[in-house]
Amino acid sequence: MQNAKDLLKRLGIDRHPRLLPCGGADSITSECPATGEPIATVRLDTAAELEAAIVRCVAVQKAWRMLPAPQRGEIVRQIGEEFRKHKNDLGELVTLEAGKIRAEGLGEIQECIDIADFSVGLSRQLYGNSMHSERPSHRMFEQWHPLGTIGCITAFNFPAAVWAWNSMLAATCGNSTLWKPSLITPLVAIACNEVAQRVMQTQTIFRPAYGDPRDVFGLVIGRDSEVGERMVADRRLPLISATGSCRMGRKVGQVVAGRLGRALLELGGNNAIIVMPDADMKLVERAVVFGAVGTAGQRCTSTRRLIVHESIVEKLTEKLTHLYASIKIGDPMDESTLMGPLIHAETKNAMKGAIEQAVAQGCHVKCGGLPGLSKYDNRPGYFCEPTIISVPKGVVPAICRDETFAPILYIFSVKDFEEAMEIHNGVDQGLSSAIFTDSVRTAERFLSHQGSDCGIANVNLGTSGAEIGGAFGGEKDTGGGRESGSDSWKQYMRRQTCTVNWGTDLPLAQGIRFGD
Ligand code: UN1
Repeated sequence: MQNAKDLLKRLGIDRHPRLLPCGGADSITSECPATGEPIATVRLDTAAELEAAIVRCVAVQKAWRMLPAPQRGEIVRQIGEEFRKHKNDLGELVTLEAGKIRAEGLGEIQECIDIADFSVGLSRQLYGNSMHSERPSHRMFEQWHPLGTIGCITAFNFPAAVWAWNSMLAATCGNSTLWKPSLITPLVAIACNEVAQRVMQTQTIFRPAYGDPRDVFGLVIGRDSEVGERMVADRRLPLISATGSCRMGRKVGQVVAGRLGRALLELGGNNAIIVMPDADMKLVERAVVFGAVGTAGQRCTSTRRLIVHESIVEKLTEKLTHLYASIKIGDPMDESTLMGPLIHAETKNAMKGAIEQAVAQGCHVKCGGLPGLSKYDNRPGYFCEPTIISVPKGVVPAICRDETFAPILYIFSVKDFEEAMEIHNGVDQGLSSAIFTDSVRTAERFLSHQGSDCGIANVNLGTSGAEIGGAFGGEKDTGGGRESGSDSWKQYMRRQTCTVNWGTDLPLAQGIRFGD
């Protein structure tokens, strides 16, 4: 893979000490999901190396927190600039290692740039409230202090952006971050972390008397049994921000709660689009194809269920089946490709299992299905056709309650908005949701407290592809965490309520008289 070697070289990581010429120490080999070919072998960290990394991150944070926030913001601005410079190559590496098509690989790095920009502004806005005290000559206010070192665990499907959401905010707030990326995408992690560390090394603003500035952005690559579980249990990491499956999140949440730490969980979704008869169908078609087929159905926000009014369900299903047939599947580097591979063979198996279960539970495959999987069996890479499955009226098959991380779209037919909402909210996950309608009343009902129970609710746009400016995350089994924009930064800081008595008496709150 000469191209891969050149790419790693351009990114300045071809001779990175984490890359091994061949196996030896405990290691993993990163593979290209489009070809199944190895890209590079990466040495894994041991528990002792995790320990050393925690010590370094904790040490440098003590100095980093003393740098004024706007100056931290200036350094984050420089990191954003460095991401801009390397956007093309980093995007290509995302495509190579995670199999996302070029446009989405670039989009992912753009999210890193956007959150860096957001953080720069935020560095002058870490606002606290002030309150009017009930006691005379007293001033009350709250302020926000850094938390310490943040443990950040990310998944393969957004191998760069989710770390950036966490670490750019965390750094701005005065924290260091220790990142444990997915073992499926270690090269993107090494390259992105290198971008941040390079800036930390060359910038001239933060020169601590002790500690290495690079450790504001720590990285540990290792197995769960060696590194992940220890990280989650470690009290020196006051916040664990974890993205992944509900199963993983449940474990992480319990361990972190057991030590009374903070967990920020961004877990599975089972996102639906409701389509009403007055919807603009051109918008619906585009949103559904991007949401269900984009990223080969491997976003947390991917559209998994389509809940359609019975008067238009047949026509829409037919149209989508037609559109699916024209989707170009193949090499994600090719500009004309719309759907790249699944991430590995197990995902293909999971997709096969879900289709089989759906059929056993009475559903009908409209396109894709098992032939759409086996078609690619003898070719390198983990390709499949996206699948549309029509669900019989009046039932919710068990398989539709699961998140299968693959391009399967279940289509439900409903008689009215009430039935649509019942199916919509009748799953355990609560990440993203959407409705297509031209009725203000229906749209507002969907957004009201009797409407969508998800963390993200959209009108006339799809479930995936959120901007960084909003708080990202969901309710119920999605874990309740919010990352990225809005006031998500508050999770990376601790709130302190302060009262100052500038008078000459000591009045007590609640009018209590104590020995007066
Ligand atoms: C994820 O799948 O973990 O809203 C994150 C989106 C992207 C982020 C998805 N901006 O689809």
